[in-house]
Amino acid sequence: MKTATDYSRLAIGVFDSGLGGLSVVKELRKVLPHEDIIYFGDTARLPYGSKSPETIRRFSKENTKFLLDRGVKAIIVACHSASSVALPELEREFSLPIIGVLYPAASAAVKKTRNRKIGVIGTTLTIETGTYEKIIKSLDPKIEIIAKPAPLLVPLVEEGWVKSPVTLQVLKIYLEPLLKEKIDTLLLGCTHYPLLKPAIRKIIKGRVNLIDASLETAAATQKLLSEEKLLNPQKCPGRIKFYFSDLSPQLYLVAQRFLGFELKDVNRASLSE
Ligand code: DGL
Repeated sequence: MKTATDYSRLAIGVFDSGLGGLSVVKELRKVLPHEDIIYFGDTARLPYGSKSPETIRRFSKENTKFLLDRGVKAIIVACHSASSVALPELEREFSLPIIGVLYPAASAAVKKTRNRKIGVIGTTLTIETGTYEKIIKSLDPKIEIIAKPAPLLVPLVEEGWVKSPVTLQVLKIYLEPLLKEKIDTLLLGCTHYPLLKPAIRKIIKGRVNLIDASLETAAATQKLLSEEKLLNPQKCPGRIKFYFSDLSPQLYLVAQRFLGFELKDVNRASLSE
């Protein structure tokens, strides 16, 4: 039988539709440098943000089982699209702690807003489910939420066009309706958007608070592991093992943009095995 200390030495499992979840891994490294991480990116089946809730729930269960089979103590659903449709089902079916990206980001936004007007941007799936609205309203029913899908931003980020005038123009089109509504807080409801923070700041010009879900999720994970006495006691830097369901040649370059460092220990994963 495993003791509590044995469990604490297990890795944290993280999954996403592809590479965007690496923005969460980047923040995890800062707050939990001694934790081992097993990352699964479902690159063969991305994007998740334009698919149906049923399909994403099925994929999310498969991804969770894949990580469990590798021995993890907690799982982070580092994908807004998956978190918005699959979290309750995963929590019902699996007995380990499961952390989604929506709740940490929503509660940070609720704490930050002064005028009670929060803007949310995300994939079509994330916005259409209305899960962000539900969570924010459950925390403060008086808050007004203006939520808009911003589907063009994911391919622009993957292309590395984070400073391009084209991206700035697209961002303006997406953000202007939210700014017109006088939001004072903007929640970045997609794994890819943290890379657009400098471009977004040019548009919001210090008038609006930015909520980075990757950062908030890493902080929530640190809190949860500490409360559950699951922090890894090892003193050496944690290792990261990466699995992807497809390994394309450009994956390494795009992944490095999210992570800020080079990927090592990269493995191809087959979910059917
Ligand atoms: N990871 C997804 C999300 O945060 C964005 C990419 C996709 O659509 O698969 O919603």
